[in-house]
Amino acid sequence: MKPRALVTRHVYPAAIPILQEHCVVDYQDSYEVLSEPRLMRKLALAEGVVCQLTDPISRAVIEAAPKLKVISQVAVGYDNIDVTAATERGIVVTNTPGVLTEATADMTFALLLAAARKLPAAERYLRAGKWQRWDVDLLCGGDVHGQTIGIVGLGRVGQAVARRARGFGMRVLYTARHEAEHALEEELQATRLPLDTLLAESDYVSLHVPLTDETHHMISVPQLCAMRSHAILINTARGPVIDERALVAALEEGLIGGAALDVFEHEPTIPPALLELDNVVLLPHIGSAVSSVRSLMCALAARDCAAVLGGHEPPSHVVNPEVLR
Ligand code: GLV
Repeated sequence: MKPRALVTRHVYPAAIPILQEHCVVDYQDSYEVLSEPRLMRKLALAEGVVCQLTDPISRAVIEAAPKLKVISQVAVGYDNIDVTAATERGIVVTNTPGVLTEATADMTFALLLAAARKLPAAERYLRAGKWQRWDVDLLCGGDVHGQTIGIVGLGRVGQAVARRARGFGMRVLYTARHEAEHALEEELQATRLPLDTLLAESDYVSLHVPLTDETHHMISVPQLCAMRSHAILINTARGPVIDERALVAALEEGLIGGAALDVFEHEPTIPPALLELDNVVLLPHIGSAVSSVRSLMCALAARDCAAVLGGHEPPSHVVNPEVLR
């Protein structure tokens, strides 16, 4: 009998036949997010699950799934999954890096430019019928070319952002747990600095770290105080990397110049004060939202789920490889 795989939410259609080749698929073709109790009931008989960053794959959910062998996340970030609990049970966890790198870096730059040149504020102004004439100082923003960008986390997306920044003639600084290979530093012309120094020297600070216990609230009061008063903070990583209350206060007090955010601490809830501010650009977590990219992400997650359950090929992106040893 074929193993059973749950697909928790609507996915791009390419994913389903990939799974069906090796599994019986329980496809929740809906935009609704299954609550923890419903997820537990659904997973009682499942050996695999293709899930999304909105699904709470907690220890309790994993414990309620006695047959589970693989959790395949349609995203690069997997902070919604208790990987420790999965690993203890020998459950393989997979994600979808690589295919979304360029799209996410493009969005990071779109946010940087939008915030620097006040695009949303300018559009709001025009749509509100306020535009009377060309004025020499109307909606003037900040320079991008020749400015300094501080990239926090030089993984795939951080590197892709650095390449774009070089194209804009920017000076590139980065922080990372480990120094990048010399050849990569040369190619990106990037200089590694401690976070506090990077914050003090950057005109734009862009976050590209995964959400972990270490990076939770990595940007809070001391870090915001270290930033330059005109600097713009960009986040396309995960919301809780920033202490959102501290950020709102910093923006209100003019401690920093602005923020451009695709992710939030309690999605989809946005602090009302943030919505009131004019020096912020706010997007609904669409960093990798390109149809071709999202389709590849769904197919990749399905392929890895089927690979583990079918055993016909090794899964390609395992986040806890120790379970395969
Ligand atoms: C999206 O946020 C992802 O982690 O892929």
